[in-house]
Amino acid sequence: MAVLLTGGAGYIGSHTALCILNAGQDVVVLDNLSNASPEALRRVSELTGKDVPLFVGDCADKDALNRVFDQYKIDQVIHFAGLKAVGESVAQPLRYYRNNLDATLTLCEVMQAHQCFDLVFSSSATVYGTIQEMPLRETFPLGCTNPYGWTKFMSEQILRDLSHADERFHVVLLRYFNPVGAHESGRIGEDPSGIPNNLMPFICQVVSGRRKELSVFGNDYPTRDGTGVRDYIHVMDLAEGHLAALAYAREHAGTEVFNLGTGVGYSVLELVHAFEEVNGVRVPYRVTPRRPGDIATCYADPAKATNLLHWEAKRSLADMCRDAWNWQKNNPNGYHEAQ
Ligand code: NAD
Ligand code: UFG
Repeated sequence: MAVLLTGGAGYIGSHTALCILNAGQDVVVLDNLSNASPEALRRVSELTGKDVPLFVGDCADKDALNRVFDQYKIDQVIHFAGLKAVGESVAQPLRYYRNNLDATLTLCEVMQAHQCFDLVFSSSATVYGTIQEMPLRETFPLGCTNPYGWTKFMSEQILRDLSHADERFHVVLLRYFNPVGAHESGRIGEDPSGIPNNLMPFICQVVSGRRKELSVFGNDYPTRDGTGVRDYIHVMDLAEGHLAALAYAREHAGTEVFNLGTGVGYSVLELVHAFEEVNGVRVPYRVTPRRPGDIATCYADPAKATNLLHWEAKRSLADMCRDAWNWQKNNPNGYHEAQ
């Protein structure tokens, strides 16, 4: 028996693969490598001493998925595959809807045909839209502000409808908050292509000298210091959340949704200062205007995951900053060879 990870060569998928292998389960990955390198899985294999079979193919390609299910006995699936850049989704909505929704639909059809019914889905806190009441609970009304978010919202709905119609399905929707950091070995981590959209990888590239300074997007938000507040979660805590979700899926039919966050928000400047202190470096920054579409504050109520998944985030902001920098320092060009 093996767990199929669609998009498993990516940032969260590779860390989750490592966790699952260390827990004694086998994994198989299907990834089209549109935003990943096979080197990540080679290193997961090196760290765990276990094989990580990689099928290079698209999750919307039924034949590619069928080949995986024909070759391996898959009993559970984690569906990471998807495009995830918010700004890009605004510029290229059709590409995002086509990629993310086709992948979800095709995967479900193939799972059903192969009698595989346990599915864990990568959703996002972005489905809460612009709600101002914090902390965010799973019962709050949803609404998105960009096509990427709508693909998550729609995929959640598709999976709910499916588990309603076919009671053999066991679906767990995981709404991630802001995953950062890397495995403590410094061998795997986040490897964004081009200019990073997200705060932590941008800070890492500034400190490593690849970029001149950080732009802090606005210091006039109604927060402690005026900068945006987010619920940063260590990627290894997140990966462990997937193990808990797989165990939950095994036992529970229908669809259940969980926030995966720490429940604590930090501002941009708090993160910058923590990074400087933990790593003994300077992060040059400049305050610039707000980034369109950003909200002031976003953090989770993770109580449901604590109670039902028996999981909670253990790693601190200092751990996140230390491990992110350890990865960046040891891999200044990510998974690519030095130029
Ligand atoms: P990532 O880009 O590193 O991983 C996604 C992987 O999916 C990549 O390896 C990419 O090559 C692959 N992929 C994309 N489309 C595919 C397709 N059609 N067929 C096969 N493979 C495909 O991103 P990540 O940060 O690891 O995110 C994993 C999932 O979690 C995504 O669905 C993302 O939307 C979601 N998520 C991420 C964050 C975050 O901040 N990183 C937050 C919330 C939700
Ligand atoms: N920020 C900066 N400078 C940067 C990058 C970010 O000041 O160069 C600020 C942002 O304004 C925000 C905070 O840092 O206040 C975090 O920004 P990120 O881009 O790292 O993360 P977001 O919360 O904006 O977005 C993340 C994911 C999205 C997801 C969203 C909601 O990247 O995919 O969380 O869950 F949709």
